[in-house]
Amino acid sequence: MQVLSRCFVALCPPLKGREFVGRTDYAKLPTGGRDGKGEGMALVKACKTSDLKPGGAIRVNHKPPIAVYRLNDGFYATDDTCTHAEASLAAGDVDLEECAVECPYHGSFFDIKTGHVLSLPASRPLKTYPVKIVDDEVFVEVG
Ligand code: FES
Repeated sequence: MQVLSRCFVALCPPLKGREFVGRTDYAKLPTGGRDGKGEGMALVKACKTSDLKPGGAIRVNHKPPIAVYRLNDGFYATDDTCTHAEASLAAGDVDLEECAVECPYHGSFFDIKTGHVLSLPASRPLKTYPVKIVDDEVFVEVG
């Protein structure tokens, strides 16, 4: 099965050039946290709000990598790696009407707001992350 996955990846087109944020940049800002106290949470700086137009996406260098998207109503974040293989979803096409991203390798669609799979071959959902805007910068809450 692992060999089969490698074959699929080898046949896939190269990733389109989307900006890659080189270094994880943790902000020294208070976070809300799941319990509202900010414990165990950190904010990762993703980009400036002006860096992404609606329909744009960017990959943030974090473990695991995170994709930040701009939709018509704001910014959202999910895991960047497709749950089917190893594609970067930040290199996929964003459908603004459906609020979905299409995997650039095999075409699965994921709901950007919920992480739910909308079409095969992927079958597992993506993890989503809260996004905070501070001044003109976009942060992803991880923890
Ligand atoms: S890598 Fe196959 S659908 Fe994303």
